[in-house]
Amino acid sequence: MKKRRKLYEGKAKILYATDEPHLLIQYFKDDATAFDAMKRGVISDKGHCNNQISARLFCVLEKNHIPTHFVKRLGEREMLVKRVKIIPLEVTMRNIVAGGMSKRLGLDEGKKLKQPVLEYHYKSDALHDPLINDDHILVLGIVREKELDLIKEMSFKINKVLRRFFGQRNLELVDFKLEFGRFKKRILLADEISPDTCRLWDKKTKQKLDKDRFRRDLGNVKEAYKEVLKRVL
Ligand code: TMP
Ligand code: ASP
Repeated sequence: MKKRRKLYEGKAKILYATDEPHLLIQYFKDDATAFDAMKRGVISDKGHCNNQISARLFCVLEKNHIPTHFVKRLGEREMLVKRVKIIPLEVTMRNIVAGGMSKRLGLDEGKKLKQPVLEYHYKSDALHDPLINDDHILVLGIVREKELDLIKEMSFKINKVLRRFFGQRNLELVDFKLEFGRFKKRILLADEISPDTCRLWDKKTKQKLDKDRFRRDLGNVKEAYKEVLKRVL
């Protein structure tokens, strides 16, 4: 599959057209940003790790009957994906308190939640991705009620599947962010699932093996991504 015109460049990925109108090439960069892009850097080999990790996780989810945009991995940093129209929602699932939830609600990081917590952020750079609820989503017309029910159901199921998958590899899935897209009247899981978009802690040592190492200047960032890759392959 040949890479054609660049269609979109985001903070961590680039999308290219292909000769097939329904398919795109998703290219993973080494660039990293945090805190609404106030902090910028490069994590060498991140693109390669995230492409492989995402590909593996999309396959696991497909096997568990979660439809995704993933078609196949093409090379070190590229995957072929279905050309979805991204729904402007960041769906966050949390199993353990960390990051934004710890700050917002004054809870200690590391506290286990008695049930998974789902949050929505409205994807808008101008508004800095504000936290919104179901009613906001419906009033803004982002999706219809039935679609929101489906997104919610898929997100809880994805959490179950990924928690088990990571758990078997001695990784605690603390929280993660999902994006969905529309493709031929269906809703598919899109974007990526990687240490950029998940918090993953070693089960025994509680060592952080995700982008928090970059956000918080903890060192050994590249090594953390490589460790996750090693465990998921
Ligand atoms: P948060 O605690 O900062 O809200 O992050 C929750 C999860 O979502 C965490 O695993 C990191 C991920 N995330 C993204 O993928 N993109 C983002 O822009 C943010 C803020 C978080
Ligand atoms: N990727 C986000 C940004 O650059 C934030 C994050 O993942 O922490 O704003």
